[in-house]
Amino acid sequence: MKPTNGGLQWLGLLILIASIQASQASSLVLNDPAGLEELNSGILRKSTLHAVAFPDVWESLGPFPHGSRELGNDPLSAYGGFENLSFSSTDRYPSELADGGFVRWRHVETGPDQTVRLSYPQIRWEFNQRPFGWAALQHASYFRGKFNVHEEGIYLVEFSGVVSFKIDNRAFTGNVYGYTHASHSIVYLSKGEHILYVYAVIDVRISGGTIPPELRFRGSLKKAEINQENHGLIHFENDAVIPEVMGTELISPFASVAIMNANITTPAERPLTRQQSRDMTGWVQVTSVHATLSDGTEVNATLPVHFSIKIAPGQIMAVPLNLSIGAIPPDLAPSMRIELDCIRLDDNERFSLLLGPFTFHRRQWSDVYKITFLDYDFSVHYAMARPPKKACADRQTKCPIVLALHGAGVEASSEFWTNAYRQQENAWVLYPTGRTPWGFDWHGPSFRNIEYALDALHLLPGVPAEKQKSLAINRNKLIYAGHSNGAQGAWWLASHFPDKALAAVPASGYMKIQFYAPYFMRVGDSYADPLLRGILDASIAEHDIDLYAANMGGLPVLARHGALDDNVPPLHSRRLIRLGNEWNRNPISWDLSEIPAQGHWFEGVANDNTMQEFIDKHLNITADPELSPPPLPEAFSLNTLNPASTGSKGGIRILQLEVPFRLGTIRVHRVQNQWHLNTSNIRRFGFVRDPRQEGIESWSVDGTDFNKPPSVSGPSYARLDPDSSWKEENDLLWISQERHPSTYGPISSALNHPFIIVVPSNPAQNEDLYREAAQHIALSWYIYSRGVTQIVRDIDVLDGIAARYNLIVLGGPADNAYTRRRENEGGANMVKFRPAGGFQIDKRKYESPGTGIIFLAPSPIRTRVAVFIAGTDKDGILRAAWSLPFRTGLQIPDYLVVGDEYGDPHTGWTARDGAPFGGAGTKGAGGVLAAGYWNNTWDWDPRCGYLK
Ligand SMILES: *[C@@H]1O[C@H](CO)[C@@H](O)[C@H](O)[C@H]1NC(C)=O
Ligand SMILES: *[C@@H]1O[C@H](CO)[C@@H](O)[C@H](O)[C@H]1NC(C)=O
Ligand SMILES: *[C@@H]1O[C@H](CO)[C@@H](O)[C@H](O)[C@H]1NC(C)=O
Ligand SMILES: *[C@@H]1O[C@H](CO)[C@@H](O)[C@H](O)[C@H]1NC(C)=O
Ligand SMILES: *[C@@H]1O[C@H](CO)[C@@H](O)[C@H](O)[C@H]1NC(C)=O
Repeated sequence: MKPTNGGLQWLGLLILIASIQASQASSLVLNDPAGLEELNSGILRKSTLHAVAFPDVWESLGPFPHGSRELGNDPLSAYGGFENLSFSSTDRYPSELADGGFVRWRHVETGPDQTVRLSYPQIRWEFNQRPFGWAALQHASYFRGKFNVHEEGIYLVEFSGVVSFKIDNRAFTGNVYGYTHASHSIVYLSKGEHILYVYAVIDVRISGGTIPPELRFRGSLKKAEINQENHGLIHFENDAVIPEVMGTELISPFASVAIMNANITTPAERPLTRQQSRDMTGWVQVTSVHATLSDGTEVNATLPVHFSIKIAPGQIMAVPLNLSIGAIPPDLAPSMRIELDCIRLDDNERFSLLLGPFTFHRRQWSDVYKITFLDYDFSVHYAMARPPKKACADRQTKCPIVLALHGAGVEASSEFWTNAYRQQENAWVLYPTGRTPWGFDWHGPSFRNIEYALDALHLLPGVPAEKQKSLAINRNKLIYAGHSNGAQGAWWLASHFPDKALAAVPASGYMKIQFYAPYFMRVGDSYADPLLRGILDASIAEHDIDLYAANMGGLPVLARHGALDDNVPPLHSRRLIRLGNEWNRNPISWDLSEIPAQGHWFEGVANDNTMQEFIDKHLNITADPELSPPPLPEAFSLNTLNPASTGSKGGIRILQLEVPFRLGTIRVHRVQNQWHLNTSNIRRFGFVRDPRQEGIESWSVDGTDFNKPPSVSGPSYARLDPDSSWKEENDLLWISQERHPSTYGPISSALNHPFIIVVPSNPAQNEDLYREAAQHIALSWYIYSRGVTQIVRDIDVLDGIAARYNLIVLGGPADNAYTRRRENEGGANMVKFRPAGGFQIDKRKYESPGTGIIFLAPSPIRTRVAVFIAGTDKDGILRAAWSLPFRTGLQIPDYLVVGDEYGDPHTGWTARDGAPFGGAGTKGAGGVLAAGYWNNTWDWDPRCGYLK
């Protein structure tokens, strides 16, 4: 989201709040809105914290061009890399953004509010922008600064406004969206001087499209307090999720508290514990929980998971809790203390941590209220719910739901957002979080969060007993609504899951990330084979709403846009309206409500009379008590690039593509009581029940007739050889042999199901590296999604675990026993590990130093997936580990091999000179050695793969 003078500036607001807090503190503070004094749990006390002064002055070089969400490029690597270049007042380096084509070094001071700000007013941004638009504003600058550590020890470090940062030789995940929840890494620092490196990037979606663009980042470094009182556990009080109270009852039972195990092993301890570290030195398990109310009432509290909650040194865990409390007296201002019982796994020492008090917010019935629930990865999240005014459920029908998806940077519980939609006559309004204010643009984990929020609402938490029957929901009768990024989410749902929609009302939405913050100026494209670019583009194209517009055929849509919206320009909505009307073959089937003289956000943007009347029209239980799905057009289409993220259309569901990640289409012509299907790039599909299929007695697909109604159809129809005809398949055997929607990839989809990180218990080398990589992945999951994951040793991964969880497996067969086992079983044989440490795909071998691979492979019984991360050496492993896509818009297919021609993806720069063969240094996409998608039988396939 781009704050401008037009609309309300959500992100600007967040940054402002963050900097006000920063300026109130005398030194850098934890990025924690309440400040450290508020951490009164006795675990962290301000007086015992030692701040380290960050650099006052930075050496900086920039601006350099940088594409949207681009990885692996470095405009300085050809000259030795930033880390090897000394400050000079005369040296110059080429950059097409600057007048004359060169930029020079400068010194940048840290501001009084501890924020580093840098803009380049002398650059003619406006002039560059005229032909190239926002793409010409996106850029990157390098920073380095020194700081001194007076006391060696374990430190907590975090940076907001950057994707990553580096201290000496180690890179850490940044808090790029400036979230208020914890984003701290734990690091051991020796006494003396250290160097901090930052590669700060302007992403117009985050920083805004103001001219001149301004880079802004902020960090903190604090000694971690590790003592006998806290046992090395740090509690982040503001990260707690606490349920609300309606009248005298808890609305929903789920809560969570976030603690970090800061007790990492220091280098001095390491030689002694190396043997033990394979036996979980410093790991802490939470064994049980107790809770009491302020009046002394016992709360029944349990850990609602079937696995043991083990926290590795350096890991943040949002411990899920299930609470059950009897009646809470209305006069009691309820607050609660929580006691976690823990055991340290190496020496079996037992201890308890007392946390709180936590206060409960009390609501009245008919207010909007919070429901907490256990999300798919066992993390606790919330959604806001606003009940209908009237009863809307009886024996036949159930209440529909207006799904209100918030914009980027918006907290779902904020009043301005919950007030953006009216209370409906006969529908619930549900405001999910998507897990964080930015989430995953409502795809992947954010979409799953919507599903779990709907499941939670299904149980009608907070609804008085006498109203339960009349307010029951039908979670398949949805109005997709939202603003900005949330409107993009509403469009995405409408185009990917059209059969659940009664209508869609997206306000100020964008069409796809590549069209919002344009991708065409990506630096790596200058070196990349266009075919490879196509393969990389395909990894995010399943979210291209324009490519899926056909799927919305027949759906009632009213888009809303301010005519002067310079944040998400109205051209986005207008283009989708044009596409929808073309597919409907009716120039006015969809309408755009474009409001003159209005910007991105304005009073009534989502709830004025025009919007509400459209919603009312499609929630009219007087006219249609059943709220039937909208009629299908004479002819309609279902498009997909990935069956995993596309539901049914007219009850037809695509299950496999002939060539994965290339466009597959089923076009349906309805002729009286017959449906004629014509397919392109489809290998398998099926029918799900849909009332609109009633009366169909026969149908055909690509000329093959089936003389029975879809409702009695078999589980799937397949054409295994494109030259033969379609056949009914009556069993599900194929699911245990071939890829199916749960295993269709790409790599990012591994995060859409609970996953665990598998570390080597006895690696041949790089033990510290694997431990740090596991910490990095677990922390990234926490920062980007407030997610829960477990770090598990390879020897502890039993078949049951691999069948239930997706795995992220660190290390090749020489280091990781699980990789070794899968290799022996032939379970990962699309990639052959070479005896000398490299890998082979098809006949191509990748063995150079610095080469890393990340790839997807099936679990032993093929129900789930594993992501394997390996490398020929430390650099290669790091390149692969940092390629796990935790942000949207990153182009990572089913497999990716990268080497010295690809920057360290975390920082974007290489410490070394790149490969001598590489010539121009690191090249982003142009430095990718292999990329693509396995086919349906998990094989390398030249039709969707690329080997350099
Ligand atoms: C470049 O920097 C790296 C890491 O900072 C260092 O190890 C290497 O020796 C440097 N090389 C040169 C040529 O200065
Ligand atoms: C940190 O972990 C080590 C190893 O398990 C343990 O001996 C030590 O007591 C722990 N420190 C604290 C403060 O609990
Ligand atoms: C707490 O648990 C006990 C034992 O399961 C049960 O008897 C009691 O009713 C529970 N109390 C509440 C408030 O749920
Ligand atoms: C609902 O439908 C009824 C009957 O068709 C109609 O009279 C009424 O105006 C409709 N209400 C709305 C809000 O569209
Ligand atoms: C997958 O690719 C292999 C060639 O690498 C080919 O033999 C096989 O038929 C393909 N499978 C499918 C289902 O397309």
